[in-house]
Amino acid sequence: MKIISAPLALKEYLKNSKKRVGFVPTMGALHEGHISLIKQAREQNELVVVSIFVNPTQFLKGEDLDSYPKKDEADKKICELSGVDILFFPHAKDIYGEDEVSLVAPNIRGFVLEGSSRPSHFNGVLTVVMKLLNIVQPTNAYFGKKDAQQLNLISLMVKQLFMSVNIVGVDTVRESDGLAMSSRNTYLSLQEREDSLKISSSLYEATKMIRNSILDVKIIKNRMREILRPLEVEYVEILSREFEYLWHVEVGNTVILVEAKVGKTRLLDNVWL
Ligand code: PAF
Repeated sequence: MKIISAPLALKEYLKNSKKRVGFVPTMGALHEGHISLIKQAREQNELVVVSIFVNPTQFLKGEDLDSYPKKDEADKKICELSGVDILFFPHAKDIYGEDEVSLVAPNIRGFVLEGSSRPSHFNGVLTVVMKLLNIVQPTNAYFGKKDAQQLNLISLMVKQLFMSVNIVGVDTVRESDGLAMSSRNTYLSLQEREDSLKISSSLYEATKMIRNSILDVKIIKNRMREILRPLEVEYVEILSREFEYLWHVEVGNTVILVEAKVGKTRLLDNVWL
């Protein structure tokens, strides 16, 4: 596995490769969820590039930028064992300059849900993803469905800016007890880890109700909120896969999203139906 940190060196290297490139952008602290993105990229491409970059512009003041889990050596090993060809490990100074051109997330879809409590978050995500995609110029780029709104906005960016990369959404990987894998799960105490299971339980309950033909969004959301009551819930939403509001679940075109704070840790989860 080659490790490259200079953006232009990577761009030059890939320009001559003429191969089908699969790209997995990450912020490191890799877990099974990332490994499943890499695995899918490995299966569908000739060359796999993974980036590890804790992007400062997507963190708001007071968030966990400085304490974000860092596991560089373990991450390198995981990439090597997962068959990654190139690990891109840039420094912030090589990605950002002083007087920056940056993207602004769309007015509505970028500032609801996650974007409502973290208003500049998606500007930072879209800007860095645009930069990374321009450096790597992959055939396919892989993102987890757990960050459903991020995936939706990146797909929208690619479509509206007429970019040629294919965006692939990959299913969420869960711990055996149902908790969705996330680098931030390491922040949870034993009690918080236990409490966090209310999030996946509320989603399972919603799925069960839908299987029993209860499709009224208000009824399902109320039941989910009952399960989530002990947590500090930021949102529970049932939307179409294009993130439009629904009165009734449309099986095949629905995503159910939860964001809740467990202690100080914000956890996201969702199911796609
Ligand atoms: O999902 C993430 O890890 C990040 O938001 C991403 C896409 C790597 C951009 O920094």
